[in-house]
Amino acid sequence: GAPVEVDISKLEPGQRLTVEWRGKPVWIVRRTKEILEALPTLDAQLRDPVSDNSIQPDYAKNANRAIKDEYLVVVGICTHLGCSPNYVPLGEGASALGSDWKGGFFCPCHGSRFDLAGRVFQNVPAPTNLTIPPYSYLSDTRILVG
Ligand code: FES
Repeated sequence: GAPVEVDISKLEPGQRLTVEWRGKPVWIVRRTKEILEALPTLDAQLRDPVSDNSIQPDYAKNANRAIKDEYLVVVGICTHLGCSPNYVPLGEGASALGSDWKGGFFCPCHGSRFDLAGRVFQNVPAPTNLTIPPYSYLSDTRILVG
């Protein structure tokens, strides 16, 4: 499949944008300072906090799993059996996902949960973090996925 160019200039803080790449949904989430500050507090609850057993390009194998901390670029397919998880923004998961929910993704098929770096929580069926696709920045407001 061809690379896909994405304009992120209209993406507001906390919003998610979906594009299709090689027949798969790829999500781009603009992360706020609050989201980024929450990520390291979750490490002890995660199965693969430093992404040693998960798929991502080397340039995204870091604490925030991204080239630029502000933007998460991730394949929107659950690593369990391939459903597409739902985006549950910060502050909107209190009833279903716990009052300490810091935002992330919830897979309705078998209940896997992921944080806003696509990292999987413990005690859910998904074995690894969500996959980070290859991508690059063409400019401050344009990303090339693929
Ligand atoms: Fe997502 Fe099973 S496919 S939890």
